[in-house]
Amino acid sequence: DLPTSFDKPVHIAVIGGTGLAQLDGYKPVAVLNPITPWGAPSSPIHILEHNGTNIAFLARHGLYHQFAPHEVPNRANIAALRHIGVRCVVAFSAVGSLQEEIKPMDFVVPDQVIDRTKGIRPFTFFEGGAVGHVGFADPFDAGLAAVVKKCAQHMEGEGVVLHDKGTVIVMEGPQFSTRAESHMYRSWGGSVINMSTLPEAKLAREAELAYQVIAMATDYDCWHSSEDVNVEMVIKHMKANSENAKRLVAGVLDQLSKIEHSDLVMAKHWQGSSQGAIKFM
Ligand code: ADE
Repeated sequence: DLPTSFDKPVHIAVIGGTGLAQLDGYKPVAVLNPITPWGAPSSPIHILEHNGTNIAFLARHGLYHQFAPHEVPNRANIAALRHIGVRCVVAFSAVGSLQEEIKPMDFVVPDQVIDRTKGIRPFTFFEGGAVGHVGFADPFDAGLAAVVKKCAQHMEGEGVVLHDKGTVIVMEGPQFSTRAESHMYRSWGGSVINMSTLPEAKLAREAELAYQVIAMATDYDCWHSSEDVNVEMVIKHMKANSENAKRLVAGVLDQLSKIEHSDLVMAKHWQGSSQGAIKFM
């Protein structure tokens, strides 16, 4: 029975993916169940306190993993975070590896994305008269990426391996790729593959949130000589890696909570006549 409101602002959010449906070890402050013009988010938003700073946590697939990747209410998630004051999002995702050197359980901080979703997920806030175009040449926030990389470097002696750049292929799913597709993605220069980073990252950009995904490799998809990806394999490696993931989150939150709010707000990327036209609640 936690309060449904809080008094200190919240600027930082973590979106947990498969295997990271909650963040333990933080002081619960409030639980919010906002309804946005785009519906309810995937899960209640938990406001937690970390070193005197409020942070927000949202479980992308729901508390019971009830939303498949193509069913995640991405617009509601991003609008709800934005509405409560969040300006900076660290998102976790399980990924398949498309490169030999990215081994299951390694972390990747990607700097590029290739969109292989099918355009059937709602993917923009700009519609129905609110015309706008955001730049997306660099889909992630370099400042946030730098913080994550620094934290992971400190954990290298503790068995954490981090690849500091890469291209994430975001496919529609929910079926995994064919072997021909997997080889094609490798030939395109893909580093890892998942089903969740888009449209989440595009919507975050439209909402002017600094956004960075932290990918955790769980398998070699189906191009490699090892066993083809299956759900059990993904869950097994996620579970085995969740302690490292939680320590990495803690390190990143430590750093972010020290950074001034003004430095967390990203530079304006909006281009067009309707800046400010979207009301996030
Ligand atoms: N998530 C984890 N592993 C994956 C894979 N091989 N393809 C797509 N999404 C994934």
